[in-house]
Amino acid sequence: MSLANLIPDCPPMLASTPPKLAPVAAVIFGATGDLTHRKIVPAFYHLAKNGLLPEGSAIIGFARRPKTDEEFRNDLGEALRKFSHTKPVDEEVWSKLASHIYYFQGELDQVDSYKKLSEKLEGLPESANIKGNYLFYLATSPEYFGPAAQNLAAAGLTSTDGKKRRLIVEKPFGEDLASAKALNQQVQGAFAESDIFRIDHYLGKETVQNLIYFRFANAIYEPLWNRLYIDHVQITVAEQVGVEGRGGYYDHAGAIRDMMQNHMFQLFTLVAMEPPASLDAESIRDEKVKVLRSIPTPSFEFLQANTVRAQYGGGFINGKAIPSYRQEQKVAQDSMTETFVAARFEIDNWRWHGVPFYLRTGKALATSFTEINIVFKRPPSVLFSTSSDEQLRRNTLRIRIQPNESISVKFNAKVPGEAESEPVDMTFSYKSGFDHYLPEAYERLIVDAMVGESTLFTRSDEVEEAWRLIDSVKAAWSKQKVRDLPLYACGSMGPVESDLLLEKTGRYWVRPKELT
Ligand code: BG6
Repeated sequence: MSLANLIPDCPPMLASTPPKLAPVAAVIFGATGDLTHRKIVPAFYHLAKNGLLPEGSAIIGFARRPKTDEEFRNDLGEALRKFSHTKPVDEEVWSKLASHIYYFQGELDQVDSYKKLSEKLEGLPESANIKGNYLFYLATSPEYFGPAAQNLAAAGLTSTDGKKRRLIVEKPFGEDLASAKALNQQVQGAFAESDIFRIDHYLGKETVQNLIYFRFANAIYEPLWNRLYIDHVQITVAEQVGVEGRGGYYDHAGAIRDMMQNHMFQLFTLVAMEPPASLDAESIRDEKVKVLRSIPTPSFEFLQANTVRAQYGGGFINGKAIPSYRQEQKVAQDSMTETFVAARFEIDNWRWHGVPFYLRTGKALATSFTEINIVFKRPPSVLFSTSSDEQLRRNTLRIRIQPNESISVKFNAKVPGEAESEPVDMTFSYKSGFDHYLPEAYERLIVDAMVGESTLFTRSDEVEEAWRLIDSVKAAWSKQKVRDLPLYACGSMGPVESDLLLEKTGRYWVRPKELT
């Protein structure tokens, strides 16, 4: 059965088959960059391969360096063969797609370039099919997001007049509340909010979308999904990779801006939100924003006691020596940027009052996984012999977002022949449960932006609420008088302070399957 059939009147966001798509010209700004090579063009290729890119569409790469169409196509082809998540690349599909890819040399900060772009778009061999429907994709460095949107408007490229003119904005959307507000103003000055698609690629992941299905298309968990039954919630995004050549960007962002403000808060709000009034984009996004609004800005004292930041200090992962963060390229030698963050947040509403949400993320850790653990309260009486580690006996719902996508429940069972219980697992695995092609996040998101479906994109108020909270953490950290950051060994699960954050209240981080 298709997922769309599980919920009646399922809107496109949750449907497995998107509505009919019309041909479009997709203009990628930052066309020679890493993201275009690794994610965007492979996504277009997979859409074409799966019949989801309408015939007669075109892709235009906008960048600064001089390049011919042929050179651009060759570069992209090479990148596709390297980064495609399905291999080998179907060369027939690629060469057909490549024949509709064009290069445009322009300057992001000059209106003239956009005027010429407009002429180029009108003169495309595909223009009769495209009928003036354009999708602009800002995959540039973030300082150009606002100016590019404004220049598109100045060149007349945003006036809809019956045509679809849409804008995809990559992350990071601002670097704090003030800059996010300013950027919102700039892009909203050029495009209607309903035509702005702020990317958070975690929302494009099937397992993240499944959080809504899991919670609201089933009756068994929702009655337990509250402070009466849940002790606490843990969300972990662990990465084995270090910053790998992205030091220039990362040293300014740190783990809290790079991962927590966006991807982790998306998981957080989807787990904590109330049932939406309907499954349309605005109802779902309203509920997500309400979660963030229900978190009062934490005090300095609270954050001092309930946030941990640290940096990787070198070590070994899979037998390979990894340098310390400060030895990475383009990272300041005295950098105080965190590569690991753990924090406790509390939602002050009827459902969650008193239930801590622990979030942690870090680079150069023991293994890569993204997981949500819902840890339930203990049964009220101790009828059965308890193991030495009481914590093992809590029922836990483990939602594995990636890899080895699965959902499992841990419960206690009697050990045969013994008067004792032991925790056991009941597991659903995506791989064995569904024999389906699992699209990459960007494939889903590009299709949704093409049809104007915004559920899987962040709304302006959501971005701003998230920054309000992150700003409070950053402000508390800057007030703290620390001489240096705690270090953790590469290949570990972070600093000891992160374990203590939970242990001081009798809790502990659930270990991923790979490390047990
Ligand atoms: C990006 C961050 O947004 O997400 C990277 O900038 C991070 O630092 C990446 O590695 C993680 O994405 P995924 O899909 O691999 O979990």
